[in-house]
Formats: sequence, C-alpha cells, structure tokens
Amino acid sequence: MNNLHHKRIVLGVTGGIAAYKSADLVRRLREQGAEVRVVMTRAACEFITPLTMQALSGKPVHTELLDHRAEAAMGHIELARWSDVILVAPASANFMAKLAHGQADDLLSTLCLAAATPLLLAPAMNQRMWLNPATQDNVALLQRRAITLFGPAEGDQACGETGPGRLLEPVELVRHVNDSFETQLLAAKKLLVTAGPTREDIDPVRYISNRSSGRMGYAVARAAAETGADVILVSGPTALDPPERVRRLDVITARDMRDAVMANVADTDIFIAAAAVADYRCIQIGDQKIKKTNTGITLALEKTPDILAEVANLPDGPFTVGFAAETEGLIENARSKLRSKKLDMIAANQVGNGLGFEGDENSLQVLWEDGGVVLEQALKEKLARQLINVVAERFYEKNPAQGH
Ligand code: C5P
Repeated sequence: MNNLHHKRIVLGVTGGIAAYKSADLVRRLREQGAEVRVVMTRAACEFITPLTMQALSGKPVHTELLDHRAEAAMGHIELARWSDVILVAPASANFMAKLAHGQADDLLSTLCLAAATPLLLAPAMNQRMWLNPATQDNVALLQRRAITLFGPAEGDQACGETGPGRLLEPVELVRHVNDSFETQLLAAKKLLVTAGPTREDIDPVRYISNRSSGRMGYAVARAAAETGADVILVSGPTALDPPERVRRLDVITARDMRDAVMANVADTDIFIAAAAVADYRCIQIGDQKIKKTNTGITLALEKTPDILAEVANLPDGPFTVGFAAETEGLIENARSKLRSKKLDMIAANQVGNGLGFEGDENSLQVLWEDGGVVLEQALKEKLARQLINVVAERFYEKNPAQGH
C-alpha cells in the first residue's frame, strides 16, 4: 500500500559521499505523492548542491539556523510542525553523536530536537567509524529513544574498504519510510466511513447539494486502512480516487447512502460519518425539466433520513463518530449533537471564511461525554491520522475486551 500520498517529509542530508543518493531519494519520494522539504548541513553542501535538491524537491532548501529571511518563512519550529516524519539520509557519525547528546548547533539538529514527529535515520559512513564503540553506543542510545535506523548495508565503500556503512539504496529507503506509516492499531477491525456530499434531485437536470469535497472522509478512510482496519467507504459524488485497500461504494442520494450504510453496518466496529448529507430532499421529483416561468417557484422539501442517528441507536451498534460543521456556536452545537444523536464521539469544525469544506487544511475539536481534545490546524490527511488515533483510544477504552 502506498502510504506516502500527501505525506510531508523533511529530508535531512548530512555530510558524506552518499549524499549524492539523496537526490534520487527526493525524486522517488515525490513520485509516491509525498511533499519533501530538504534540510542540508553545511558539510552536506560540500558534496551536493542545494540547487540540485531545490530543483528535485520543488521547494527552497533550508540550510541555516540563523537566517532571518528563511526563519521568517519557515523556521525550525515551523518545519518541525509541518513534518509528518523526519528522515535523515545519509546520517553521518557526527550527526548521530550530536543527536544522541542533544546538541543543537545547526538547523537540522535543532529541528530534530524540536520535532514531535517520528525520526528515521539512514546511517552512512566508513565501516570502521560505524563499528567504533563510540558510534555503536550512540546507536544504542538513539534506538532506546524510539529513533528508527534503516541500515547501514554491507559492501564496497567509496573509501575502498569493505564492510558495514553503506547507505541503503533509495528504493529501499522509500519502502521503509512507507512502511513506517503502517501501524496495526485497528488491525482486523471493521470500519464504515461516509464521505462527500449527497445530491437530491429536483428534476432530471437539477439537484440540491453542498460544497463538501469529500477530502476529510477519504483521508479518514485512508488513515484507518493504514492502521490495518478493513474499511468500507460509502461515498457521495466526489472527484477523488478511492484510497488503496478501501472498498468504496458509490451513492448519490441520502437515501442511497442510508441503504448502503444499513446493508453493511452489521459487525462494523466503528462508524465514522464524515459525509455532508443533504438535510432535505424534494417531496416530488419532476419527471421532466421544470419550465422557467416569470414568477418564482416553491420547492416542497422533506427531511432526509439521519443516517448517523439511526446507526447510533442500533442495539449492539458500532462505536459511532459524527462530524459537526458549524459556522457559529461550535462547541455548544457539537455537544448537543453528541447527546441528541447518542454518539460516542463528535469532531467539530468551524466552516466558512475559507475554512472547512473546500480547503486543504482544517482543525478539529474532538468531544466525547466526559472529555475532549483539540487537533490543531493541519492538512486534512494529518488531522485524519490524529483523529483515528483518538478514535482507537476511546474505542478500546469502551471495549476493553477487543484488546490491543
Ligand atoms: O445534524 P447534522 O447534519 O449537523 O449532523 C452532522 C453529522 O450527522 C455528520 O456526521 C453527518 O455525516 C451526519 N448526518 C447523517 N445523516 C443526515 C445528516 C447528517 O448521517 N441526514
């Protein structure tokens, strides 16, 4: 499964002859759909130029900690927040020593200290340097702090020696980074997710709908699949490709969506309703295109079925998560929906003023009966992964027998 789609990767490059391979690495990560920002140490710039990395990443390269212009645009704290993962390839003996001891005297080492995202290292150095007890002690220390090392490989080295210390090939590194996003948090759990808008016909050529792009629901489905869940995505009309390893059922109307959900809800563990279901539909749908007249017309509308409330009220139903898109009174409205629909959890987001439906970013206030958590503004894909982690935590708390 390609987990790199829309992932934000900071690629740190340190000084070593293997730095030339990181150029190919950038290209391959981007081919998989990742966004890459390159941070180079001063020594790395002696081996490969920032210009090469800028051309390949399509983004400015970051080299200096104390560059006022660069810091104003995206400094070490912003880069740390921006990243989903930090990969340092090649990671030199010196860089690992600095990291092991918390030294922060350049942009890359400072960024690594400031980041809450996973840190992955691909060491590359002369085999004696790798085998030196000082390096091996540093490696052990870094691994104890849950820093992941990929390689090094054994073989011929640029210095003419043979042994362990070669940088893994870019294609292997891409595979490892890709796999690092797979968790087994919801392994074998069944998830049902709704996404996108619904369309309610007025006549053969017109319909009522809304601005939902479906991106949040698709990101939730993808994030759930990354945690090993079996995911069914019931989707209204969107322009999005189905995420890998997710079964997508296409629907048009709220009634279709309700039927598809009810037909698949049995033995679902978690139901996440991210769809922006139309609240009303026409009582009478015209057989023919309604003719324009000189006066106004009135459409008689009736309520559509509330899919989420129906699922939440099922005896022995799944753990239910709703969304509440609000233009005002975010928390009060979300709390009242949580109660009235009898949900386990609700994710509330402000819409309007460029936030919400159509944008790439969002922020969420996740609420449950006796608690809540704020997920700060981020790309919808990152938020979706954070949301799935919160959902999984609450799900296991409510269902300890399901164990994890
Ligand atoms: O009541 P409101 O429409 O604001 O609730 C929003 C939540 O309810 C969302 O999770 C949405 O997917 C779900 N919903 C539904 N069926 C409807 C209306 C909303 O599942 N007819």
